[in-house]
Amino acid sequence: MSQRPGAVGVRIAGTGSAVPERRLTNDDLSKMVDTNDEWIVQRTGIRERRICDPSKEGTFTLNRDALKNALAAANMSGADLDLVIVGTCTQEMNCPSVACRVAGEVGAVGAGAFDVVAACSGFVYSMNIADSLIRSGRFRRIGVCGGDAMSSVIDYQERSVSILFGDAAGAAILVADDNPDRGCIYQQLGSDGRDWSGLYLPRRAAEVPEADRDNPIRLGCLRMNGREVFKFAVTRFRQIIEDSFKATSLTADDMSQIICHQSNIRIIDSAIEKLGLPREKVFVNIDKFGNSSAGSVGLCFDQLWRAGKIPQGKPMMMVAFGGGMTWASGVWNI
Ligand code: COA
Repeated sequence: MSQRPGAVGVRIAGTGSAVPERRLTNDDLSKMVDTNDEWIVQRTGIRERRICDPSKEGTFTLNRDALKNALAAANMSGADLDLVIVGTCTQEMNCPSVACRVAGEVGAVGAGAFDVVAACSGFVYSMNIADSLIRSGRFRRIGVCGGDAMSSVIDYQERSVSILFGDAAGAAILVADDNPDRGCIYQQLGSDGRDWSGLYLPRRAAEVPEADRDNPIRLGCLRMNGREVFKFAVTRFRQIIEDSFKATSLTADDMSQIICHQSNIRIIDSAIEKLGLPREKVFVNIDKFGNSSAGSVGLCFDQLWRAGKIPQGKPMMMVAFGGGMTWASGVWNI
């Protein structure tokens, strides 16, 4: 679970993100389904989310654009990368992976490329994997993306899910560094597959669990038991933040930022209150972007990075949970 850094460290050379232009506000949703702005804001903290125009945007374009922006910020080209990883669960196609298409479009021809399916934990999973691969000595420059076009898997007649999700992607360029203490100094990747039916995306009727068979299911659309996921999230979120502090002997005061997956403001607030986290160190953009699944943590990371809020020489933390159920955390020496 926790590792001592080896001979190679990892430096973040640049970050990027991409969101669609189209905004879907709570008032827009209230015209589509029986809900209202007051309920959504109170129960989730969300005011609007970004939604793709499916004629020209989707998971692939969001991740491609996020990676292009990260490469530009790092002053690098796609040809400099030897691996591209994309965390996503809304791939347009199972074959090819989103990562292969993204790598092809940014000019990373010949680089390794694969997708990581860990739902909302996708970006943190991918960052942790990339850090480990660079430390292994086998890769030196990795483009990591996390992004989902959740609008492509949402039933907009279903008010429990349609209010929560939006579309976005975030990316970071990780490069080998001579300082082995730099990079991810602690990470956790976790799952509990016994609870998968709390949040799932069925493609075939045969995969719908017994308990859900009598409910109106649209194949290809996300199914969620909101209350169950809420309970899981509140407990797990707190646990992984506590684990990370304990394993590194660091405290919230040592961190520049603790980036939490933007799932529901009440889940984030519960962690802040129970762990006594300084509010100014827990970035929140859920009001503007909703829950963009694997895009969420990467988008926060890019916004904070560009605002100069993740300074060199100070540790920061990323934490996420999602369908699977999955969870992940990473403490980084920047
Ligand atoms: N608008 C208005 N009313 C709604 C509504 C909506 N969009 N959705 C549900 N309601 C109603 C319910 O029908 C229920 O009415 P009732 O009391 O008359 O039966 C009431 O509001 C409370 O519903 P409940 O499901 O208990 O609400 P909640 O406080 O649990 O909030 C979620 C619902 C989905 C916002 C919340 O459970 C949640 O955020 N869960 C976690 C989801 C998540 O993080 N998923 C992603 C994981 S990565």
